[in-house]
Amino acid sequence: MGSPVVLGIETSCDETGAGLVRDGRLLGHALASSMDEHARFGGVVPEIAARAHVHALTPVVREALADAGLRAGDIGAVAVTTGPGLSGALQVGLAGAKGLAYALGVPLYGVHHLAGHVAADTLEHGPLPDPSVVLIVSGGHTSLLLVRDLARDPIVHLGDTLDDAAGECFDKAARVFGLPYPGGPAIDRTAREGDPRAVPFPRPLTTGPPGNRFTFSFSGLKTAAARWTERHRAAGHPLPLADGAASFQEAVADVLTRKAVAACTEHGVGTLVVVGGVAANSRVRSLAEERCATAGISLRVPPLRLCTDNGAMIAAVGDLLVRAGAAPAPLDVSVDPSAPLAYAALHPVAATP
Ligand code: KG4
Ligand code: ZN
Repeated sequence: MGSPVVLGIETSCDETGAGLVRDGRLLGHALASSMDEHARFGGVVPEIAARAHVHALTPVVREALADAGLRAGDIGAVAVTTGPGLSGALQVGLAGAKGLAYALGVPLYGVHHLAGHVAADTLEHGPLPDPSVVLIVSGGHTSLLLVRDLARDPIVHLGDTLDDAAGECFDKAARVFGLPYPGGPAIDRTAREGDPRAVPFPRPLTTGPPGNRFTFSFSGLKTAAARWTERHRAAGHPLPLADGAASFQEAVADVLTRKAVAACTEHGVGTLVVVGGVAANSRVRSLAEERCATAGISLRVPPLRLCTDNGAMIAAVGDLLVRAGAAPAPLDVSVDPSAPLAYAALHPVAATP
């Protein structure tokens, strides 16, 4: 008998995801998004997201099972995002996961959303080398991590953002540029026709005290984008949007990849993994490739569909926890909307002897 099929459920933000993983292999997955319902508000509305999860969860789990050619009875464990994320949205996923785990008589695992982003890459490229440096760049988080055994070891933060997350910065800049939500993909598309050297946007925290080497700050860049837009509008000039988007994207990609490669070099780590929604950015990907090749670092970036929120990545963490012999979560486990990233599981998991 091999290890069990793990169902992963993700509902921390606006995507309802379900995925099935066994032994590091993705068997099937499905996704529903309430993104369109939030677009006219310019950002995710928590109550709308939670309600959409209520409607989508059961169909999405069914669809993932159908995609894998499996039945509910084949599920051997359930993993669910218990934090961080929107409280109401997380609670819908957790309630669903508890119901399923209880009904099927299988163990439940509470998973840290960001560990899910890290594990997403293992579904495409196999186990993570120990150690790896991981750059997580999502709508809510920007961190440089030193990861050893994801299921067992504490995750070491080499640096985090002092203010906005990289994705948030894309979303806010897109809004001042007058581009639609979500801003990252819109800026990426608009930047294609632009000159990345046209506007000298700042590169925050790339100079100065050594304490800032792996720390990020994006609020200044967001303000610079706003000032640039205001200057053009006040002068009555049409906004050279493609140039602005390309230059802005270049600044973010430059800062992210420069710090990530420096972290690998300083810690003598040969593998960089870039994950999270912003890892879908074309310039972040190409600049990371260029700089890793120059520094002799091997780069791993999950395919686009695994970069943004999904259920497969949560199943991937659950599968690692199950195979590491981690203890399951009690059925009264609750959500932790602002959980810091210390371990992949959000409950004590000392391996069963
Ligand atoms: O990881 P994710 O799907 O959700 C969170 O956990 O936050 O990341 C969403 C973020 C959004 O801010 C979105 O604008 C950004 O990822 N994003 C991108 C791109 N695709 C998504 N940012 C830049 N370029 C992209 N192509
Ligand atoms: Zn995410």
